Amino acid sequence: MPPLYQLLVSLLPLARSPASPLQHPKGDHASASRSYGELDSWIERQKEVAAERAFANIGKDPNYYYTWTRDAALTASGLLSLLPSPSSGTPFPVSPSSGDDPDTRFYSSLSNRTLSFFADYIDAQTKLQHLDNPSGTYEDLEGLGEPKFEADGAAFTGDWGRPQRDGPALRASAVMRFLHHATAQDDLDDRLRAKAVRLVQADLDYTAKFWNHTTFDLWEEVRGSSFFTTVAQVRALSLGAQVFASLDPQKSERYRTAARKVLCFAQEYLENGVEGKWVRSNINVENGVERSGLDANSLLATLLSSPASSSCAAHLFTPCSPTSLTSLSAVLRSFTSLYPINRPRVSRLSRLFTSEQQTTFATPPSFVPAPLRPLAIGRYREDVYYGGNPWYLTTLAAAEQLYRAVIAWEKNGKIVVNGDAKFWGALLERQVSEGSYERRTEGTFEAMVNAAKGFADGLQEDEDSSAELECPDGSEYNGTMSVGFEVEVKTEWGESILLAGSSPSLGRWNLAHAVWLSAAEYTEENPVWNTKQKVEVEGRRGIEYKFVKLEADGTVVWEGGKNRILYTSSDGERVVRAEWNGA
Ligand code: NOJ
Repeated sequence: MPPLYQLLVSLLPLARSPASPLQHPKGDHASASRSYGELDSWIERQKEVAAERAFANIGKDPNYYYTWTRDAALTASGLLSLLPSPSSGTPFPVSPSSGDDPDTRFYSSLSNRTLSFFADYIDAQTKLQHLDNPSGTYEDLEGLGEPKFEADGAAFTGDWGRPQRDGPALRASAVMRFLHHATAQDDLDDRLRAKAVRLVQADLDYTAKFWNHTTFDLWEEVRGSSFFTTVAQVRALSLGAQVFASLDPQKSERYRTAARKVLCFAQEYLENGVEGKWVRSNINVENGVERSGLDANSLLATLLSSPASSSCAAHLFTPCSPTSLTSLSAVLRSFTSLYPINRPRVSRLSRLFTSEQQTTFATPPSFVPAPLRPLAIGRYREDVYYGGNPWYLTTLAAAEQLYRAVIAWEKNGKIVVNGDAKFWGALLERQVSEGSYERRTEGTFEAMVNAAKGFADGLQEDEDSSAELECPDGSEYNGTMSVGFEVEVKTEWGESILLAGSSPSLGRWNLAHAVWLSAAEYTEENPVWNTKQKVEVEGRRGIEYKFVKLEADGTVVWEGGKNRILYTSSDGERVVRAEWNGA
C-alpha cells in the first residue's frame, strides 16, 4: 500500500504532468494481483526517489523559495513516516549490519540523514520562533503563527495571509514524534533533547492560547476557522499532554484540557447532508470568501492522526471515522465533471446520476446513492490558482485516507457502520445497513475492505480510456460498437437491473463496475429496462454478458442460462433487445 511518502512525491498539478508517475499497467480482474505486484515493485523503486525529493522540495518558479512553517513540519513528519516505526524494534538510526541488503542500506542512510535533518530543523526553528516578525514576537507568542520566512532566516515582511495557526501545532507534533523515535532508541544527546522540548513547549503554549482565534487556512486564502488547523491543534495538544506528563504535570494538564476543548470545537464543522454528516472545512469566515466548504482540507486533516491509532470514533475524525468517510464522499462528488482528466472515469450512466448538483447534495433517483467513482481531485472545486487543477497531493490524500482506514478495520476485525451507510452504499453499489460487520462471520466485511482498497487503488490509476483499446500488432481487431441494451423484465419497487459482461465497458464481470440500466421507460404494459445511452462495446470476436437483478435488500440475482454473446464484428451502432432469462 502506498504510504505517506507518496504525498511528498510532487506538488505539481496532475493535469500538467505528461504522464502520471503513478500509472501502473492495467490488468483485468484475473490479473489484478499481477498489476498490484507491479504497483508494489514500482513503489519499492520510488522509495529512494521520493525520499530524495522530500529533502529537496523547494522551487523558485513560482517562488516558493522560503522556509514555510507548515511545509517544513509536514515534511519533517513525513520523513519519520518513511522509517520503521519505533515499536517495530528496528533500531533508529538503523545500523547497516547486514551490509549488502539494499533495504537495510536505504533505511540506514535515511535514518542518519533524518537524524541530522532534525538537528538542523530544531536549531533553525528555534531561531525563527524567537524572531520578531509581522505576526508578533516570541514574548507575546503571536510571532509563532508566522507562516513563512526568508530562506536565510530573516523575517518575511511582505503582505501575506497571516497568522496561520496550524504551523506551531504541526511543528510540535513533528518534533514530538522525533523525540519518540529517538528516545525509544536511546539515541539523543541531552542538548538537542532540551532544545527540542523548549521548542515544543512554546508551540504548545501558543496553540493552547490561540486555538479559538481565527487564522488563515492551509491554502492561505480564507481567514476564519479552518478544520485542518483545528485538527492539527487537537493532535498536538493531546500528544503534548502525554509527552509532558512526566516532564511537567501541570503543563500536561493544561494541554489536556485545551485538547478537550479544541476537540469539542472541531464538532462545530459538521453539517447534516443527505449522505450523512460532513465537514464544512471553513467556518466563521471573516474575509468574505464564499465557498461550498467541501475541501480536501478535511481529507488531509484525517491524516494528521497517529498512524498507530485504530479508533474509528466519529468525533475523532480519524481516517475511518464515519464523518471522515462521509466527508470524503462529499468532497469526491464535488469534483465530478470538473476536470477533463476524469472524463473516462465517470461512466455514462453514473453521469446521469452525478450531476453538478451533487455539491448541493441533490438526492439521486435511486434507493442507493449514486455510485462513487475514483476521481482525480483538486483542493476545492472553486479553486482558480494556476487555472484550478487536480493535484497529486489531494488525490493521494483521498487514497491514503482509505488505506489507513483499511488498516484500522483490519486491526479491529470489524467495521461499524454508523451514520455512513450511504457512503458504503455508494462504494459497494448496494444498500448497506447500519450495524457492525465482523470479519469472518460473513462476507460483508471482506467485501467492504476490498471495495475500499480497490477504490483507493483506482484513485491512482491512469484512466486514459484509450489504453483499454490498445491492440497488439498483428491481431485481428474487429471493432467497437455502440450498443443500446434493453431487457424486458418485471421488477418490484426498489429493484434495479444491471448489465455485466466480459468487456471493460461492462465491468469485466465485476458488478461494482457493471452498467446500471434505467427504468425511465418502464410501464406495466412494457416492462423494459434500458441503457438509456449506448454503451461502447469493444472486443475482438465478441463479448459475453448477462443481466443482473439487484433486489431491494441488496440480494444479487444473475439471469439464468448461458452467457449471452454479442458479436462485435464491425464498427457501428445497434440495439439489442432481450427478455430476462429466468431459467
Ligand atoms: C501554498 C499552499 O496552499 C500552502 O499550503 C503552502 O504552505 C504554501 N503554498 C507553500 O508551499
